[in-house]
Amino acid sequence: MTVVKNICCIGAGYVGGPTCAVLAYKCPDIKVTIVDLSEARIAAWNSDNLPIYEPGLDQVVFECRGKNLFFSTNVDAAIQEADLIFVSVNTPTKKTGMGAGMAADLAYVESATRRIAEVAKSSKIVVEKSTVPCRTAQSMRTILEANSTPEIHFDILSNPEFLAEGTAIKDLLNPDRVLIGALQTESGIEAQNALVDVYTHWVPKDRVITTNLWSSELSKLAANAMLAQRISSINALSAICEATGADVDEVAFACGKDTRLGSKFLKASVGFGGSCFQKDILNLVYLSQQLNLPEVADYWQQVVTMNEYQKKRFVRNIISTLFNTITNKKIAVLGFAFKKDTGDTRESAAITLIKDFMQENARVAIYDPKVEPQQIYMDLAEPGVLVGAQEQVEKKVQICQSAYEAADGADAVVIVTEWDEFRDDQLDYAKIYAGMNKPAFLYTKDTVTMDRIQQTSGAKSTQPTIPTTRITTKTAVRPTRASLARRDMVQKQKQQEQ
Ligand code: NAI
Repeated sequence: MTVVKNICCIGAGYVGGPTCAVLAYKCPDIKVTIVDLSEARIAAWNSDNLPIYEPGLDQVVFECRGKNLFFSTNVDAAIQEADLIFVSVNTPTKKTGMGAGMAADLAYVESATRRIAEVAKSSKIVVEKSTVPCRTAQSMRTILEANSTPEIHFDILSNPEFLAEGTAIKDLLNPDRVLIGALQTESGIEAQNALVDVYTHWVPKDRVITTNLWSSELSKLAANAMLAQRISSINALSAICEATGADVDEVAFACGKDTRLGSKFLKASVGFGGSCFQKDILNLVYLSQQLNLPEVADYWQQVVTMNEYQKKRFVRNIISTLFNTITNKKIAVLGFAFKKDTGDTRESAAITLIKDFMQENARVAIYDPKVEPQQIYMDLAEPGVLVGAQEQVEKKVQICQSAYEAADGADAVVIVTEWDEFRDDQLDYAKIYAGMNKPAFLYTKDTVTMDRIQQTSGAKSTQPTIPTTRITTKTAVRPTRASLARRDMVQKQKQQEQ
């Protein structure tokens, strides 16, 4: 029976960092070393200012760092020491060559695998943590086996990560499931059991699922595609709601009450963002095309197409309510990260919206509590511009230190990321309104804020009213607690009247 005592994680990013930090936290008997080629990233992991923001992450890292958790750029030494190696490197969508714009770029996975093959001096369990197309483990195996000797043997496992940024620590401490795929050979199953033993330090055994290698790889793409599909479905319905007078919150609530559907991921929005959904669906589309399944490819492609449509529709509605022109108007964008509680901006809807505002010659003021200005400049620069990106973007956008600064003199405020600090019980909307150009417009995808503003402005006649417009995404959230409470009250009243 193999017992894992020393783990190396290649890739200290959004997945490798939190995942292996929690592993070290929960397994004090295992030494965990997280390595990366980026010296800056490793230096940040070794500092007080960790390179990624994730609620609860600081506590976990500060508790174990220097005890059984280490961050290093010495990739070779960590590989040599480890019994088990997680490969948690980036797998972005390919930009050029065959499958460009769709297929996952596996160059980083391949280079990490080759490094393991080159420097390993003892047998290893190699775990594919990155999200990869189905059957990538086969290529990894070929590379590793070409370098194996009678003394050195490699087993490959697939252990895709299901954490969501913003709730990573919570998800890792209490996962819905952990999935471990292995070749169904004697040594494959032994390696699988060794990783099961690591996870069962803190995850109940019935939540650790073991499958064959290919089911595990495909399940990750399938789960993301299905989650994104629900968002695109409710967003498609939000367009129908606006055209018919139906209320998408009510539709989502009514549908979500069906236990076969459930209420999660039925929240209409400006569209999904993040580094995974779009990338993984396109990956699935490409896989379907390669397998000569064009109808299947078209089906999943539509989820992404719908998402693009939703973002465009949001911008169109903003422009049309602002009297069909935003030229020289100041638009305050609150939030730039792809969702709250993360500083990650990859595929954030904010990027598409702001680029569209810039195209229309609007003046854009941006505020996000966790995204660094440098990141915003990079994201908004024209593709391929690395030098002078900041100067180029600075001409059109202003990055602000607070929501009040961004909204000052603005014609419209657009809340793109639902950070808690933009809720109406945290932000003084009367002050925001006072500083804005009149008529002032507020666009939000969060009905919680919207409902409360409307309630407050109705309740106190002296309070300034912001003419809100519940554009496109008038969003559909599952009914908010406030609106549910109102609904219950009305129902109770009706029952009493009867
Ligand atoms: P990331 O880009 O934040 O981190 C990847 C790290 O790997 C980078 O720091 C890079 O320098 C390092 N790296 C690349 N090649 C290397 C090599 N040969 N040796 C050492 N270090 C190397 O990426 P992220 O977000 O952590 O994603 C990693 C994988 O996990 C991807 O496949 C992604 O699809 C998947 N995933 C991501 C989730 C997320 O929420 N970000 C959730 C679940 C899975």
